[in-house]
Parts: sequence; structure tokens; C-alpha cells
Amino acid sequence: MNKNAMEHIETASVDELRQLQVERLKKTLNHAYHNSTVYKQKFDEAGVHPDDFKHLEDLAKFPFTTKKDLRDNYPFGMFAVPQEQIVRVHASSGTTGQPTVVGYTEHDINIWSDVVARSLRAAGLSSKDTIQVSYGYGLFTGGLGAHYGVERLGATVIPMSGGQTDKQAQLIHDFKPTALMVTPSYCLNIIEALEKKFGSAKDCSIKTGVFGAEPWTNEMRKEIEARLGIDALDIYGLSEVMGPGVAMECLESKDGPTIWEDHFYPEIINPETGEVVQDGELGELVFTTITKEGMPVIRYRTRDLTRLLPGTSRTMRRMDKIVGRSDDMMIIRGVNVFPSQIEEQILQIPQLIANYQIHICKQGHLDTLHIRTEMRQDSSPQLAMQLANQLKSQIKTMVGISVSVEVLNEGSLPRSEGKAQRVFDIRQSA
Ligand code: DLL
Repeated sequence: MNKNAMEHIETASVDELRQLQVERLKKTLNHAYHNSTVYKQKFDEAGVHPDDFKHLEDLAKFPFTTKKDLRDNYPFGMFAVPQEQIVRVHASSGTTGQPTVVGYTEHDINIWSDVVARSLRAAGLSSKDTIQVSYGYGLFTGGLGAHYGVERLGATVIPMSGGQTDKQAQLIHDFKPTALMVTPSYCLNIIEALEKKFGSAKDCSIKTGVFGAEPWTNEMRKEIEARLGIDALDIYGLSEVMGPGVAMECLESKDGPTIWEDHFYPEIINPETGEVVQDGELGELVFTTITKEGMPVIRYRTRDLTRLLPGTSRTMRRMDKIVGRSDDMMIIRGVNVFPSQIEEQILQIPQLIANYQIHICKQGHLDTLHIRTEMRQDSSPQLAMQLANQLKSQIKTMVGISVSVEVLNEGSLPRSEGKAQRVFDIRQSA
């Protein structure tokens, strides 16, 4: 196969894709039911059997899987093959409770490599490219997931991992990668290092960025594209479903990640009622893996809020940019607020830097937000005050809440080396 060519299924008819999904879903539901005690019990309790699945709509009869199921069966209780067939495990730390562990057979690793290679191709990359992987290597799926995909594409991989920001910049200068895979927040950090060390980041060899693992806005995309002189594309994924490469934005349309639906079947549900909603409606993204052996997941609730959109560059559907995770939603005096809405407003002001923190505080009985952000180096204290007022009034108008704002000097806030922590709940400690 030509490593740089599209796969047949990427442009097959919708009917062909749906038929493949039905076949694969039947197989997966049977595999989960017969080989995982967890799923046998869940299906039995819900009074459903894999034979009840005949059409795609029948999937809604099956019970959801949540992070709690993975935690309750820590570490390996969700695996659906004998341990000897598991060739790799990954785990996500999670801020609270047990980490969640996932396991892959050799076949799963192969499919994962294929979908990441496919994602890189969608980003316009080929075997001719050199790709620096600055996602963390280790239990996190970012580094190794990206790495295997770059190798599958036949491109050259620079396995840099996260951290050592100065060295990241030096290697970009010396090894001249044509693409960078990293979280968008850490990319900004690397851009700062390039600018400091070499005067500019724009002139470097990188042409394409494959960014994900955390929510980021289109304003952030513009900022990164301008400062690095690249095309910045969105890659989505989660460890419970596979890792990076569940969905990828195509270079030609840049209109949200295309979900690789021949491996991951998406649904959007109303997070309160659990009911499936129509394509185009906002809700919680749910995935069923349809080719995974080691740890299949049936209707896994991602907690990510988005919409399903029709395919454009490919047959498969797209997902809109993630608005946020339901866990990240702040309710401030009755108004629902996501960090991405604050980011959007910060980046409307050119003198401000896309590095920020949102503190949830208590004033009397009321929850309030305190935003801390930074201004570019050449700004004065008077300007800091003016920018703070400007941001405050923009947030009031556009988001609908009153916040306090602190504009600090460049470099005052900690820099991310992976997934950025934006929200700090200091209500208890205050
Ligand atoms: O973050 C996998 C990954 C690695 C994706 C590298 C892309 C690039 P987890 O650590 O399990 O896996 O975290 C998954 O991160 O449910 C989303 O909330 C968030 N997330 C991942 N990609 C995006 C994205 C990896 N492109 C969780 N946009 C998911 C917004 C994202 N959020």
C-alpha cells in the first residue's frame, strides 16, 4: 500500500460505512459480553443481549460505561482477553481517585498506529516529514501513541517527550522537524523559548502542528499559527477509547476533527437524561470501540461536550471543537461558564498572552471568578490596569458574568509542559 495514500473507507459511501459499523458493533457487543465479566453483568442487569442489536439505533438499548466502571475494576478487571495477549498498558492519573488503566493487544496497537498515521496524513504529512513528538512518553497515551503513528507513516520521529523546553527549542533549530505534536499550551511555551533563543519562532522549519489532549479555542489556533507560521490542526482522543487519533482535523477543511468512525462509533447524549440527541445538537460525546480486542468499551461517556457534524473532507462525521468537559463547567451565579469562553476573550486582546488561570473564589455566599493572565513584555503598569478593565468588561458583555482580573508581567505564571491546569478551586482554602 502507498503509505501516503488515503484508505478506501475514508471516502466510501455513507451506506458502506454504516454497514461496516453494524457488522463491527455486532462483533464487539458479542466479544464484550462473552469475554468480560463486567459487561456480562452490565448487559444482564439492563436486560439486553448482543442479539438485540440489529440496527445502529439499537445501540441505545445498551448500558453506558463510565470512568467509575474502570476505577471499580482497577487495575485489569475491564480486560476482555487473557493477560498473555495484552502487550501494553497505559494509565491516566486522574486528579481524584484511582487511576484508570487500559490494555492493548498487538492487534489494538496496530490499529492505533494506523489511525494515528491516517491522522497525520489528514494533516498533510507524509513519509518525507520529520516529526517532533513533544507529548509526554510513559503511562500517558500521547507520546507513545503519536510515536507509533509517525513510524507507521514512515516519517522520521524525534521522540523528545514533554519538558526540557530549552532543549525542545534547540532540537527544532538543529534537527529541523517539519511538524510538531504537542499540547497547544505547551506549544506556546516552546514558542516563547524559540523567540528568546533565536529571536523569532516564525522562521523555524515547522510547517504543521498536531495539537490536542486539552481543549483549545480557534483564537488560540490563530495565535499559534501567527507566531509559529504554521497550520495548527486539532487531534482528539482519550485513553479509555484508544489514545490520540480517535479523531483528526483535515488540513484541507480545518473544520473540526473527523471521527475515524470505522473504529470508534460516536453518539451524542443529553448528559442529564442519557437520551441520544440528533446530530448537530450539543451534548456529551459517547464512544463505542468497534475493533478493539484488549479492552473494548461500550458507550463510554467521555464527559466532553460537543456536537456531531456532517462529513466534509471525508465520509465520516466530524466533531465540533470541544466546548469543555462537563467536569470543568463552572456555575457562577447561575451562569454556566467554561474555561474556553474566558480564553476566547483573553485572546481578543492582542497585548495579552494566552497563558491564564481561573480561580474560583467565594465572596460571602457567592462564587466568583478571579482571572490571572499576563501581558507582553513591553507593556506598562498603567496599561496593565487598562487591559484588566478591558478584559473584565468584555467578559461581562460576552460571557455574562462579573469577574475580577489581574494582569501580570510576562513570565509570572507557571508554564505548562503537557496538559495545562486552568481552573483552581480555592473556595475551601479561602
Ligand atoms: O489526552 C489523548 C491524546 C493525546 C489526545 C495527545 C490528543 C493528543 P487522556 O489523557 O485520556 O488522553 O485525556 C482525554 O483530554 O476526554 C478530552 O477532555 C481531552 N482532549 C483530548 N484531545 C482533545 C482535543 C489524551 N483535541 C481527554 N480538544 C479527553 C479538546 C481534548 N480536548
